[in-house]
Amino acid sequence: MRIYVTGALPSAVAAELAADFEVSDTPEGADGILSLLTTPVDVELLDRAGAQLQIVANYAVGVNNIDLEAARGRGVLVANTPDVLTRPTAELAVTLMLTLLRRVAEGDRLIRRREPWGFSLEFMLGESLDGKLVGIVGPGRIGRETARLVEAFGAQTLFAGRGDELGRLLGDADVVSLHCPLTPETHHLIDAAALAAMKTSAVLVNTARGPVVDERALVEALSAGEIAGAALDVYEDEPSVAEELLAMENVVLSPHLGSATRPTREAMGMLAVEALRAVFLRGETPPNLV
Ligand code: DGY
Repeated sequence: MRIYVTGALPSAVAAELAADFEVSDTPEGADGILSLLTTPVDVELLDRAGAQLQIVANYAVGVNNIDLEAARGRGVLVANTPDVLTRPTAELAVTLMLTLLRRVAEGDRLIRRREPWGFSLEFMLGESLDGKLVGIVGPGRIGRETARLVEAFGAQTLFAGRGDELGRLLGDADVVSLHCPLTPETHHLIDAAALAAMKTSAVLVNTARGPVVDERALVEALSAGEIAGAALDVYEDEPSVAEELLAMENVVLSPHLGSATRPTREAMGMLAVEALRAVFLRGETPPNLV
């Protein structure tokens, strides 16, 4: 069976895949696609692959890069990589929260600029997570794990999921942390009105998908002091980042690192390969079917 792989794989995953499949770097005639989240699996790609295509195994938990309707319409299965990245992604959300609240990246920049500094009682005071209310938007696996972790730091949590009214969470939370999938319903869920509804002392953390936040509106809200800061791992038009954010001391930026540990990336890859094996070697439905 021929598998079209849309990007470079960790060597351990590449070896697993090559043990059972013919690997191709073009979609034409592929029986399966192993897609990176940066590859739009759209009508054009599905058509290029052809009618024999049976499965798209996405090397990510998020499947917003895949036209699910088009895949379904062609009888193509879609699998993703849940669970194995839950804890690392939640860990990154908390890392970003603490980095922002405790001004770690800001302090790092100050030292690297060789600015004079010295310990003093009022120097670079930040905020603790202890006693804060963290609003989790998207109470799925990663959202719930993030809640568990921040509770260990003494924070309280509040959840809003699909169909819930966001107003109370936005108005009450000290930290708004996004964990929802990107869908037509969540595109620009955090827009100018949502940012205006947050407390001026509150911060926004996004480890979900960039387009959940209207990045332009975020720049404006931060410039106007409508919210106190933001920590972002994902961006509306990756890898571009709004220029204004680069100059803001109350903004922490990381380059889409949610699942970026070697064991996690390998475990994700193995799940994707297992989905292909289920379909092609055992004639089974993969357990991680979307
Ligand atoms: C995913 O799997 O959706 C993550 O964004 C990868 O880090």
